[in-house]
Amino acid sequence: MDAVRLGIVGVGGIGSAHFNCVGGGRIAEMKLGAVCDIDPKRLEYCRSVIGDIPCFGDYREMFKSGLIDAALISVPHPLHAKIAIEALGAGLNVLTEKPEDITVSAAERLNDAAKKSGLVFGIMFNQRTNPLFARARELVRAGEIGEIKRSVWIITNWYRTQHYYDTGGWRATWSGEGGGVLLNQAPHNLDLWQWICGMPSEITAFCDEGKWHNIEVEDDATIFARYPNGGTGVFITSTGDCPGTNCLEITGTRGTVIVEKGRLTLKRLAEDERELCFKSSESMPSARPEIEIFEPKEQETAHAGILQNFANAILHGEELLAPGYEGINQLMLTNAAYLSQWTKKPVSLPIDSGLYDRLLREKQEESESKHGGDKQTHKTYSERWQVRF
Ligand SMILES: NC(=O)c1ccc[n+]([C@@H]2O[C@H](COP(=O)([O-])OP(=O)(O)OC[C@H]3O[C@@H](n4cnc5c(N)ncnc54)[C@H](O)[C@@H]3O)[C@@H](O)[C@H]2O)c1
Repeated sequence: MDAVRLGIVGVGGIGSAHFNCVGGGRIAEMKLGAVCDIDPKRLEYCRSVIGDIPCFGDYREMFKSGLIDAALISVPHPLHAKIAIEALGAGLNVLTEKPEDITVSAAERLNDAAKKSGLVFGIMFNQRTNPLFARARELVRAGEIGEIKRSVWIITNWYRTQHYYDTGGWRATWSGEGGGVLLNQAPHNLDLWQWICGMPSEITAFCDEGKWHNIEVEDDATIFARYPNGGTGVFITSTGDCPGTNCLEITGTRGTVIVEKGRLTLKRLAEDERELCFKSSESMPSARPEIEIFEPKEQETAHAGILQNFANAILHGEELLAPGYEGINQLMLTNAAYLSQWTKKPVSLPIDSGLYDRLLREKQEESESKHGGDKQTHKTYSERWQVRF
């Protein structure tokens, strides 16, 4: 294979942006093999850009066409695992959009299928390409701030209006989407939170449904996390704050990392606070941390960076920045938060996925299906999908 031939399943909002990126030759050693959408208007759009692009109305036909080596799944999230499993079964490498699906159990099925296939399986967690979060991870992993005591992320700049929800056909219902801000917008941040700080062992959450909008699912959430080492974390997100905030602060025994306003600040202590606390003869010593500021010169490579990494993994065995298998961690956090809200209790991780699936089905049975039209206006990568501070 000298270039990966990509087939895109779902050329709506983000799918059309991927279509224009790959079709426009922005990814080395990757080209468009075919596209698929159940909406003929989307296929018409694709033909208006690339006259001879092979188009399919059924992804199964595209999978067995022999025209593609890899499938990019950019359909509504409840379809991700099902379609990805069929793509792997057809011998295709898979890159799925985030979230991996809507439940931990679906992610488990997909991870099993991917493992058995031995094919390349990635997930579009494009914010992992942001140099600030990569640096935060490096510092934490290298023990530069010691043992983590606490992390706090206020990520409330995912503002959406009622118009957004009214015009997004499958969005914001339990039956259509399967969740709200914790499943649609904040998965990027939940993934980064666990990528940098690791997975908690227990979660308690308040997920307020329809707090700021006329929608069924949550548009405001606060998660309290407890980690295996006794550390704690708080994660706050909303689509109702304007302009909102994006600030991550991680406190360790040897220092603090703060990511905000497009820069990372490292406050490094001369000695571990746990030693200082018990050795010092002063009651309130003034710790004078060494301050390092990191302002990256390079931008995140975002979606194109994940696509390039996926092509390189298939052709040259490059390590994936966002392996598909890791999508389950974000779903574990999202599902645990919902379970805590629904049961009004703290939830231990890993969650009881049988219980989760049953309670979700109950919500879906009561869910009102929506008939708003799909907007699908995005045909190139939008800034709103990149990290904003
Ligand atoms: N990584 C990111 O930054 C990012 C940004 C936006 C959306 N997304 C994710 O991408 C996915 C799609 O979101 P969107 O905003 O593009 O939605 P969308 O509704 O705009 O597009 C979805 C497309 O899938 C098509 N479709 C539905 N069922 C299909 C099927 N069975 N076979 C083929 N096509 C089918 C629809 O006709 C539509 O054109 C979601 O899971 C979302 O979370 C990720």
